[in-house]
Amino acid sequence: MTDTENPTTTTTTTTTTTTTTESTDPDTAALESDLLEGFFSDPPTLPPRWFYDEKGSLLFDQITRVAEYYPTRAEAEILRSRAGDIVGAASTVVELGAGTCEKTRVLLDVLAAGSADAGFVPLDISTEMLFETARALEQEYPGLRIDPVIGDITALDGPLPGEPGGRLVLFLGGTVGNFSESQRAGFFRMMRGIMAPGDRLAVGFDLVKNPDRLVAAYDDAAGVTAEFNLNMLDVIARTVECTGLDRRDFRHEAVWNAGESRIEMWLRAVREVRIDFPTLGRERTLAAGEGIRTEIARKFEPHALVDELAGHGFGGQSVWTDAAGDFGLVLVVVD
Ligand code: AVI
Repeated sequence: MTDTENPTTTTTTTTTTTTTTESTDPDTAALESDLLEGFFSDPPTLPPRWFYDEKGSLLFDQITRVAEYYPTRAEAEILRSRAGDIVGAASTVVELGAGTCEKTRVLLDVLAAGSADAGFVPLDISTEMLFETARALEQEYPGLRIDPVIGDITALDGPLPGEPGGRLVLFLGGTVGNFSESQRAGFFRMMRGIMAPGDRLAVGFDLVKNPDRLVAAYDDAAGVTAEFNLNMLDVIARTVECTGLDRRDFRHEAVWNAGESRIEMWLRAVREVRIDFPTLGRERTLAAGEGIRTEIARKFEPHALVDELAGHGFGGQSVWTDAAGDFGLVLVVVD
């Protein structure tokens, strides 16, 4: 995601209250804007997109295999057992945030066996991974049209590829839980705006359960999630100009926020830390024990998303969970 090879030119205008930056490197400019939006507020926040440089993506892949992190396996079980119902009569399947499409293959098997002119559209922001995945799928599914699309799932402006009414859009993994309430509403509104009547949307979501299990899923004993969280500091330190940002001054923390029904990931300062961002003309001191919130992961009751989706013009829902009742998948159709 980040590219430290690119020269970065930053123009900074500082007054007492306003700072304008114009970095030529898109990652630097995006991170500077995210820092200005969240890092100087209380509590300081950073958006989860900065987890996913190459190392972070590999670490996430490892997280999906650790014993404590059940969501990937639970969702795969639902996809396996409901593949026929999910794919239905779709002629085009679009996967948002496709990654390696590991879990999606059970659906592609059904799609490929159905309509003769079926297509799959993996959509992802990570160009390299997207094209690698598309190449592999072309080999594995010679009968399917594979049309990769580079895109940011929070800013799609459509129209979606495929025949209106014949599309199935997949938003898997529980990523919907990483949105705030207003981001989630904005996402459903955006999707309704670019989908046509008859198109279907399948959303994977994690379910509320014993907080000990939830915390363990985000703080595994092997320390993979801790490394994933701390890696964000390395990404920041090499993407924007800064001094005083050192991962050794922080520890990973995962906490259950019952009031908001969500896991929160924090990077907690183990001593007083002063971080300076000269190109932003800003600095922030964190006291020992003060934290930076890097991710929220909202957990839902089984039918909670159905009403929300109905409010955005999606109906005819099915909700499935895995046998253990750990994870859910909701399938809705545009009215
Ligand atoms: C990508 N997303 C659904 C993961 C989750 O469970 O919220 C990200 C993650 N963060 C720590 N572990 C996994």
